[in-house]
Amino acid sequence: MKPDLSVEIAGVPFKNPILTASGCCGYGEELADVFPLSKLGGLVTKSITREPRMGHRPPRTAETGGGMLNAIGLANVGIDRFLEEKIPFLEKQKTTIVVNVAGSKIDEYVELCARLNDQPRVDMIELNISCPNVDSGGIEFGTDPKLTEETVSRVRKVFSRPIIAKLAPNVTDITKIAIAAESGGADALSVINSVLGMAVDPETWQTRITNNKGGLTGPAIKPIALVAVDKVYNSACTLPIIGIGGIATASDVIEFMLVGATAVQIGTALFVQPDTPVRIVDGLTEYLKRKKMSSIRELIGKVRKY
Ligand SMILES: Cc1cc2nc3c(=O)[nH]c(=O)nc-3n(C[C@H](O)[C@H](O)[C@H](O)COP(=O)(O)O)c2cc1C
Repeated sequence: MKPDLSVEIAGVPFKNPILTASGCCGYGEELADVFPLSKLGGLVTKSITREPRMGHRPPRTAETGGGMLNAIGLANVGIDRFLEEKIPFLEKQKTTIVVNVAGSKIDEYVELCARLNDQPRVDMIELNISCPNVDSGGIEFGTDPKLTEETVSRVRKVFSRPIIAKLAPNVTDITKIAIAAESGGADALSVINSVLGMAVDPETWQTRITNNKGGLTGPAIKPIALVAVDKVYNSACTLPIIGIGGIATASDVIEFMLVGATAVQIGTALFVQPDTPVRIVDGLTEYLKRKKMSSIRELIGKVRKY
């Protein structure tokens, strides 16, 4: 019998635990040229903001040891064009649709999520609370437990389906932010967003991206992401976790599920091999068969520790 890859998060069914990560496949159109999106457990869109954004000037990405640095600057079409041009395509896809939203003020998150609430095909929203925040003078929402709780609870009032809070790793204690998101009414957590980093050209003395600092992603951050998932899973926070960070193979997914993730997202690996999610799904099926397991859910939180 074929092993069961399905998982459930906050009552939403996923045919398998593999989602794409925000910012790594736009709004899904290009990826649909590589494989049918119905193969995915779910698709997460690029962060949508109230206004369209061009983002930072290039160069916006740089390769680093075992990873990639980026500061795209939230380039996106804005909510009006998203609803007009992108939703019709997403509506037709036979996979779970998660729309990621970002703002520089809490009111922006509220306005965006209220508009998305009117779109029945938006199954869940993911709050990118890792942006610098104007409400408190430029610190990130996601580094402050009070702002995290307030943002989630205000969005909770206008969005009736499940809310995922996406946590930044650039904090002293990620469990405090996780607990704050749960108190605010979040239904699940995405752990983690990119890790703050920098890269410099030693010949020209020039920083490698125009924003000077950016988010490190890819295999280099996998151990950081794993320990973040482990910490949150073993904290007082009871929310289901979507693990993110450096996942490129089925083995990577298994590691994340063993430390407590219910599902995962694939980001940077999509730039290397866009069909990575399909390979991973096949790899997971093979693994479960080899281990004589009937469901992938049997892996969640089962890590053996010394
Ligand atoms: C080019 C690029 C753009 C990204 N844009 C966003 C974004 O708009 N919103 C967001 O929440 N995360 C964004 N991310 C972060 C990813 O969703 C993910 O959390 C991160 O890349 C770690 O996963 P990975 O190591 O598999 O890439 C972006 C990452 C990359 C590489």
